[in-house]
Amino acid sequence: MALSRAEAIRRVAVALDSSERAEVLRLARALLGRVGVAKVGLEAFSANGPALVAEVGELGMPVFLDLKLHDIPNTVERAARNAARLGVAMFTVHASGGEAMMRAAVAGAAIAARPPTVLAVTVLTSLDDAALVGLGIPGGAAGRVTAWAALAQRCGCTGVVCSPQEVAGLRSALGPNVLLVTPGVRPSGASAGDQRRVATPREAIAAGADLLVVGRPITAAPDPVAAAESIVAEMCHT
Ligand code: C5P
Repeated sequence: MALSRAEAIRRVAVALDSSERAEVLRLARALLGRVGVAKVGLEAFSANGPALVAEVGELGMPVFLDLKLHDIPNTVERAARNAARLGVAMFTVHASGGEAMMRAAVAGAAIAARPPTVLAVTVLTSLDDAALVGLGIPGGAAGRVTAWAALAQRCGCTGVVCSPQEVAGLRSALGPNVLLVTPGVRPSGASAGDQRRVATPREAIAAGADLLVVGRPITAAPDPVAAAESIVAEMCHT
């Protein structure tokens, strides 16, 4: 499956993981038009709050608010409403928060005229099977991801966050409409860091991922723009 350059760009979300407002905005400005989505996660949000989300949005990129909500349904619904009011394109909840919580997130998102896409995080890509056993969850990541992703879909979530290694299985289990978002993307030769279930951009696209979340391989590169371009080029040659 060959992607056009424009389509490949649309399918990269850069994780703007920094505590410094100026650094987040510098990276977002530099990567405007080179990636499709700006992801603001816990680090940037906990230091800079909703104001930074609005500022990133004003630059003209869709914003992915990745706070991985996990709380009682009432609290998650109210937080989801706040995310929707901020005008973000998508936000995350933990599937492990359960059915009522995911339904509450979807209901909260619906208050916006254009509701944000609700993405359910299945099993964090930093967890491997041994870590799951340590949590008292036997059976391996793949089975858990499939079960939680199916539940998320029944709850009205538009998509799920999973590792590139689970994309092909989820695509065949859940069909063409579910949005599959994959962190844990590492260009060949790049350091995995704390990620455990990783794949290259080419492998993630070939498996059927819709959106690749890439952080440090872009943001910690000596030249983030060149790093983003080489990832996009790799995605075009699947
Ligand atoms: O730097 P790196 O490419 O590992 O960044 C991955 C990003 O994706 C981080 O912002 C992380 O919070 C996020 N993420 C993840 N695993 C998930 C969901 C989100 O790594 N399951």
